[in-house]
Amino acid sequence: MALLKIITYPEKSLSHPSAKVETIDEKIHELIRDMGETMSQESGVGLAAPQVGVNKRILVYNARAADPEDDGSEEKITALINPEIIEASGSYLSENEGCLSVVDFRADVKRYETVRVRAQDINGRELAFEARGLPAVIMQHEIDHLDGILFIDRISALKRAMYKKRILKQIKEARAS
Ligand code: CO
Repeated sequence: MALLKIITYPEKSLSHPSAKVETIDEKIHELIRDMGETMSQESGVGLAAPQVGVNKRILVYNARAADPEDDGSEEKITALINPEIIEASGSYLSENEGCLSVVDFRADVKRYETVRVRAQDINGRELAFEARGLPAVIMQHEIDHLDGILFIDRISALKRAMYKKRILKQIKEARAS
């Protein structure tokens, strides 16, 4: 097991669409284990492969944190391969949404309230489920990553431009010091 480096905006590969996983082999299983460990370490509730520099359609999430009945103290890391949203309905304001790849920034994002997700599990078995509320937000946020979309792409152009300006300034200052 190994901790992976999380890449952050404005790294270009975060905006590239990821490729479908054709063969689920030991390398994919190792990547999933490392992604789970990295997500735990960073106290994230979800992590997509492009965030660790691998443009493949894989995500991990903490199913317990997504469950309103659960106190979230114990993790249940679940992986989805080639996930896709096949139905979406309703509207839901995701308050203060954040992302491990978008440092020092949170914003409200308009999301669907309910989504139906189809994916494969780590053994390649097909599965489908419905998610609502926070779990639905996690699915939309992580699957967006697989399409090269960050949550800041779903806020106003003005807010996004302000964030971009701030982050570029920070990078410039870090280089100068
Ligand atoms: Co994210």
